[in-house]
Amino acid sequence: MLSKTIDPTNIPSHVAIIMDGNGRWAKAQGEDRLYGHSNGVASVRETLKAARELGVKYLTLYAFSTENWARPKSEIEGLMQLLVASIHNELDSLCENGVRLVTIGEIEKLPQDCIESLNEAKDKTKNHKEITLILALNYSSRDEIIRACNRLAEQVLQGNIAPGEIQQRHLEEALDTAHVPDPELLIRTSGEYRVSNFLLWQLAYAEMHFTKVFWPEFRKQHFIEAIADFQSRERRFGKTSEQLT
Ligand code: FPP
Repeated sequence: MLSKTIDPTNIPSHVAIIMDGNGRWAKAQGEDRLYGHSNGVASVRETLKAARELGVKYLTLYAFSTENWARPKSEIEGLMQLLVASIHNELDSLCENGVRLVTIGEIEKLPQDCIESLNEAKDKTKNHKEITLILALNYSSRDEIIRACNRLAEQVLQGNIAPGEIQQRHLEEALDTAHVPDPELLIRTSGEYRVSNFLLWQLAYAEMHFTKVFWPEFRKQHFIEAIADFQSRERRFGKTSEQLT
């Protein structure tokens, strides 16, 4: 059921989310940080469902940044176990609902069991067409851009691109997000107002929606609020208001 506040003809095709506030939410309950992450999985499930129902075609979630390796070992191990368990528990539902799972970031550096469950889920869901769920894992945008530059340097060396002829599309095709349209909407939870090394290139024209809600409490109504906020913006892409009419 679509909300009355939403215009179904103006749904962003790609929404990216910085899921933040798991630790603070858990602390406020007198629990440890992993309790916050575990509860965040329900928010992932509900947000994916809401996005699919509204007709969003790509949903990118910042699940583990390259900077997150600096966290306590027990938290990192807990997060990785949660990821494997979540994929195991949700795979049937992803298949029933036409969800294609892909990843961005260097997943080769994750623990072996994570790599295997991700690869299995990606393979089993690769032909699904309803919505693409993109998990950013061991991801940071600067790292992604550097890896893309190295790929381009290799192409120049091989004579596929002339030096001085690198175009925007070459870089876009070398990024982990190749063939994915740029996000039109970025949501960040927990009252933080930063981009935190997430999709720096791809967010060039994205609308930003910040909410104070901690990620474990993020529900369908909050997602709908973010879409309504997006729909209230005038997207000018550098033009004047008058040029748009
Ligand atoms: C940020 O909160 C959250 C993370 C770094 C991890 C997000 C992971 C999940 C929601 C669970 C697993 C995900 C999937 C896709 C199954 P924080 O720990 O930085 O919170 P804080 O800022 O309050 O400390």
